Amino acid sequence: VSLRNLNTFGLESQAQSFEEVKSVEELTEILKNPDLKNTPKFILGGGSNILLTRDVDALVIKISIGGIEKVKEDDEHIWLHAGAGEKWHDFVMYCVEHGYAGIENLSLIPGTIGAAPMQNIGAYGVEIKDVVETVEAIFYDSAETRVFSKEECNFGYRESVFKHELKGKCIITGVTFRLNKKPVYHVEYGDIQKTLQEAGIESLSIKAVSDAVIKIRKSKLPDPAEIGNAGSFFKNPEIPEEQFNKLKTDYPALPGYPVSPGFIKVPAGWLIEQAGWKGFRDGSIGVHTRQALVLVNYGGGSGEEIKLLSQKIQKSVEEKFGISLIAEVNFI
Ligand code: EPU
Repeated sequence: VSLRNLNTFGLESQAQSFEEVKSVEELTEILKNPDLKNTPKFILGGGSNILLTRDVDALVIKISIGGIEKVKEDDEHIWLHAGAGEKWHDFVMYCVEHGYAGIENLSLIPGTIGAAPMQNIGAYGVEIKDVVETVEAIFYDSAETRVFSKEECNFGYRESVFKHELKGKCIITGVTFRLNKKPVYHVEYGDIQKTLQEAGIESLSIKAVSDAVIKIRKSKLPDPAEIGNAGSFFKNPEIPEEQFNKLKTDYPALPGYPVSPGFIKVPAGWLIEQAGWKGFRDGSIGVHTRQALVLVNYGGGSGEEIKLLSQKIQKSVEEKFGISLIAEVNFI
């Protein structure tokens, strides 16, 4: 089974076998099936954060568990449950239409509900950890289900327990979110301010914020339907303040944002651009022309080529700035 249309890089890769599941029951059945006990399994969500460098010698399970339901509400909040297979952006649009605030800044992020907590997706000053109430998962080995509280998810910048202690141990099947009935706006980002101003927005609304985010993302990030990509390829590195100040004398334009005491987060896109990679193209693959943090497959490129390009970028950024970039995308 070809996975080409199931990963946003549009990379060719063959799965040993393939199943799509539409409910937790269907998934449980597969996990409990004695004939499949020793078959390696690989879970696929929206395929928007993976780099397939080879064929997948496993049973690939596509999670298509759908549904958005209200769990409860009070004067301030509404709790919604969404199935892991729902598209993230569709859920955001559902919330924006119904006036449920909290994730409007996360509009147009590719991928599914189930994949979102894995790397604590974030953009424009908001992360999903801000609105997660619980995450439901099922264990591969026992087929037992468990509900994780937000604290147990151990969220960090593009991090969670599911990428670490629980890596390869369980499958996310649904998420419960707590949204706000009274919006709290996060519009500090320069890009958002500028876009709202250009649109002549005088009184904020979650729709206006969502529209602004969509506009910014469309202008910077390539649409995977047109050019294969997986969003940011690397994480933004956090470097010691001392190192930052030293670099700043050589590169006065170096941007940086304090994150934790003594540490400054530096945009990887800036470093990559300064190292000369923005718009670089080698045959079918390259670095996006408008956002250097995004590696692209123009069509027909291989995961192996993209991996090699990412290593060259890492090496040159390391040589120029003494900073090691860590991939955000998962290599398969
Ligand atoms: N920059 C450059 N050159 C570039 C790209 C960026 O100089 O080619 C500079 C920009 O001028 C700006 C700064 O870098 O000063 C930040 O750029 P941008 O606002 O585009 O955001 P980012 O730091 O590159 C992060 C997230 C994105 C998220 C945006 C907005 C990570 C790894 N990436 O990108 O998330 O949408 O902020 O909040 O944290 C993703 O994870 O896939 C993703 C797209």
